[in-house]
Amino acid sequence: MERLDKFLCDCGVGTRSQVKLLLKAGRVRVDGVVQRDNGCKIDPQKQTVLLDGAPLREAGQVVVMLNKPAGYVTATEDRQEQTVMELLPAEYKFLDLKPVGRLDKQTEGLLLFTNDGDLLHRLISPKKEVPKVYYARHEGDVTEEDVKAFAAGITLRDGTVCLPAVLERIAAGESRITVCEGKYHQVRRMMASRNKTVLYLERQQEGTLSLGDLPRGKVRPLTPEEIRELSK
Ligand code: URA
Repeated sequence: MERLDKFLCDCGVGTRSQVKLLLKAGRVRVDGVVQRDNGCKIDPQKQTVLLDGAPLREAGQVVVMLNKPAGYVTATEDRQEQTVMELLPAEYKFLDLKPVGRLDKQTEGLLLFTNDGDLLHRLISPKKEVPKVYYARHEGDVTEEDVKAFAAGITLRDGTVCLPAVLERIAAGESRITVCEGKYHQVRRMMASRNKTVLYLERQQEGTLSLGDLPRGKVRPLTPEEIRELSK
């Protein structure tokens, strides 16, 4: 048994206070009877809940991928800046999705969100070491010494030691970087320790997931296979 208002929130129909208003307005029926009491207990397995006559189902585990544009901070709220939450389409707005890790305001590319707290913690745990692949444009050209330094484990300017990482030169001022951790501004600081200022950064892959043809600023749900693969 669970509270009707929690069930309605988990179905993504609105926030707790919006749900209360829907109930007050008599728009929700439980087993055919209008229910106005948000604290009433229901059994979603056995009872039918209708909103404006349409049956509701709990969203369950949701994982979505955003192709983040520059200019949005990775936070659930911010007083000054636009947040990545503003990029979620209406159907995901009330599912209590949280970003998995973070991308800097100016970084673009692959950012996951989930409503599954256990999955979220497993994915951001340093023990998990999910490889993340970035494309960078930067000042200067990558040398053999830079590649070796990344492979050995970069020491940042503040003395922090990073795990071994892969640096691949694509062209003058363009590189692919693979890291297995998520320290603050990690790629930018690793490149800075080799005297290369990053001018543009995009996360292209996380584990087995890649952006594919998802347009910038758009969101897509992961397939059940992708979620299974991610949860391994
Ligand atoms: N490394 C960075 O410096 N910034 C990001 O957004 C992600 C990785």
